[in-house]
Amino acid sequence: MKIGIIGSGYIGETAARLFIKAGHEVALSNSRGPESLKDKVRELGPQARATSVEDAAAFGEVVLVAVPLKAYEQLPRAQLSGKIVIDAMNYYPQRDGEIDFQGKSTSEFVARHLPGTRVVKAFNTMWFKTLGQDCKPGTPLEERLVLFLAGDDAGAKQTVSQLIEQIGFAPVDTGSLAVGGKRQQPGSAVYNRPMRPAQAREVLATL
Ligand SMILES: NC(=O)c1ccc[n+]([C@@H]2O[C@H](COP(=O)([O-])OP(=O)(O)OC[C@H]3O[C@@H](n4cnc5c(N)ncnc54)[C@H](OP(=O)(O)O)[C@@H]3O)[C@@H](O)[C@H]2O)c1
Repeated sequence: MKIGIIGSGYIGETAARLFIKAGHEVALSNSRGPESLKDKVRELGPQARATSVEDAAAFGEVVLVAVPLKAYEQLPRAQLSGKIVIDAMNYYPQRDGEIDFQGKSTSEFVARHLPGTRVVKAFNTMWFKTLGQDCKPGTPLEERLVLFLAGDDAGAKQTVSQLIEQIGFAPVDTGSLAVGGKRQQPGSAVYNRPMRPAQAREVLATL
């Protein structure tokens, strides 16, 4: 599969590495332009390329967005239209400034700014080092760590779940962008708490 990456920092680069290992092609982008990613893509090998943000969005059937949330308005709406967008962003007011989400989950809010996209919130609950080190492709799902996902489009969630399995984690669905989205936000019961599927199901049942 072709996967676009917008934001190639800790989380974007780590996910790109895992997608490549699973056999996918990735286009990485950042705010400074492709030239600044030259060394990174050389190291990642022939399945990686560096592009503009717009071209990464156009390239991917799935596009992972891993930028500071405050940059959400700069995401390329036109090129993202029709795509599955994985929203890995978290809201930290000290970094992102005050944003009024009008009672919505941050991913619902982002989705409203990206009409025609199928947004799935995922890759946001796990620290990038855990993501990079604790993947276990080839082992039974129940023995792997969970990557949570939320969204309103069943097909998009299925695609993202498959990706999660391919890179060595266990997908667990937390619900819609409104309900599940909030369940995955910073400070929640599943945020930055590495757990296996059985524990994840127990925790979600208490919410
Ligand atoms: N770090 C984690 O463990 C972790 C885990 C889960 C979720 N997250 C979330 O994932 C997001 C990224 O976190 P991170 O730790 O990976 O951050 P990071 O290392 O600071 O990387 C941020 C990336 O976003 C790019 N970027 C910033 N503004 C942009 C814009 N307007 N257009 C395109 N690219 C832009 C940066 O490009 P330049 O370098 O060129 O500016 C950089 O490549 C955040 O929302 C964070 O809360 C982080």
